[in-house]
Amino acid sequence: MQKTILITGGAGFIGSHVVRLFVNKYPNYQIINLDSLTYAGNLENLQDIEDKENYTFIKGDITDEVFINNLFEVEKPDSVIHLAAESHVDRSITDPLAFAKTNILGTMILLNAFKNLWSANWENKLFYHVSTDEVYGTLGETGLFTETTAYDPNSPYSASKASSDHFVRAYGETYNLPYVISNCSNNYGSYQFPEKLIPLFINNIINNKALPVYGDGNYTRDWLYVMDHAIAIDLIFHKGVVTETYNIGGFNEWKNIDLVKLLCQQMDLKLKRESGSSEKLITYVKDRPGHDLRYAIDATKINKELGWEPSVTFQEGLSKTIDWYLDNNEWLENVNSSAYKNYYKDQYE
Ligand code: NAD
Ligand code: TYD
Repeated sequence: MQKTILITGGAGFIGSHVVRLFVNKYPNYQIINLDSLTYAGNLENLQDIEDKENYTFIKGDITDEVFINNLFEVEKPDSVIHLAAESHVDRSITDPLAFAKTNILGTMILLNAFKNLWSANWENKLFYHVSTDEVYGTLGETGLFTETTAYDPNSPYSASKASSDHFVRAYGETYNLPYVISNCSNNYGSYQFPEKLIPLFINNIINNKALPVYGDGNYTRDWLYVMDHAIAIDLIFHKGVVTETYNIGGFNEWKNIDLVKLLCQQMDLKLKRESGSSEKLITYVKDRPGHDLRYAIDATKINKELGWEPSVTFQEGLSKTIDWYLDNNEWLENVNSSAYKNYYKDQYE
């Protein structure tokens, strides 16, 4: 079946994996990648598919209502897979309004444009909203986030994502807009901007720079290889039940300090450095304000209903990720641009 799918944020980390998967797997679908190319958006992430006939890139901002309405009128996308967002917690602490604008207003503008286009007949239409487990707030030492856990966001980032989830649901209730939402745990893998923990620390180890561990390092995250997230999105897009929410996670909890030590060991081996040399770079720094203690997902629903499970172990995924960064030095050099350097200086120096 022919379809036109608008993927927002496709030049970012997760979006580029989703775009690549859909463009290669579904030659009958027209894939439009809409991205404003903020500091986190990078068309180098998609060089291998940019000439494919079923792929189009459009540069544009989801908060520009006139532009978005016009785009929907012209392209008439049957479905939207919405990933565009400001995505980094630390940046949300310094600039919360930017997060409200893109993540809340931008999502509403997309929802509105989709409603204006299709509300007379919703048949075969879908708005897929990609969200995060951070909307649930923090866990203590035990327990898991399920799809029915109450929202309790703590950072401006997670509050803006929680708000966008609520608006998606509200459009479903009020206008019958067909939607699905997924809330995923922390992703890692190739093409991730080196501001998030794993690529930042890989980048710093390569350059013999300090590894800034926030607080005591005893914070826990549930890590998922990015391709497994993209595969889950494909499954939910095609087989998910409209108006349902799916939690996606790696069944893979790590305390930050243990993860960093594992990363250091793997980096020493791959860089043929003396064992223990990367660990010496670990530096405990001031904690993140409002730092959530622990995230962990119960992914039973997507496992039971859609048959999804992670395809790689963390050790394998991490090893592949490190190899990718080591083999793609040019990509890393390019993103180590002046904008990133300024951010790094403000955040850590
Ligand atoms: P990212 O920051 O790498 O990419 C975001 C992309 O959105 C960039 O290409 C950027 O240019 C684009 N963008 C930002 N503002 C825009 C705007 N106003 N208009 C158009 N494009 C805009 O983010 P990511 O890590 O790939 O995350 C993608 C989505 O997945 C986000 O919605 C995020 O909340 C969600 N998510 C991320 C994770 C994770 O671990 N990274 C986990 C769960 C959910
Ligand atoms: P991050 O990758 O920013 O993802 P999130 O905040 O969305 O979970 O951070 C993952 C964990 O690593 C989080 O507990 C904060 C911690 N962290 C550090 O200790 N140092 C750093 O420099 C960064 C970026 C994160």
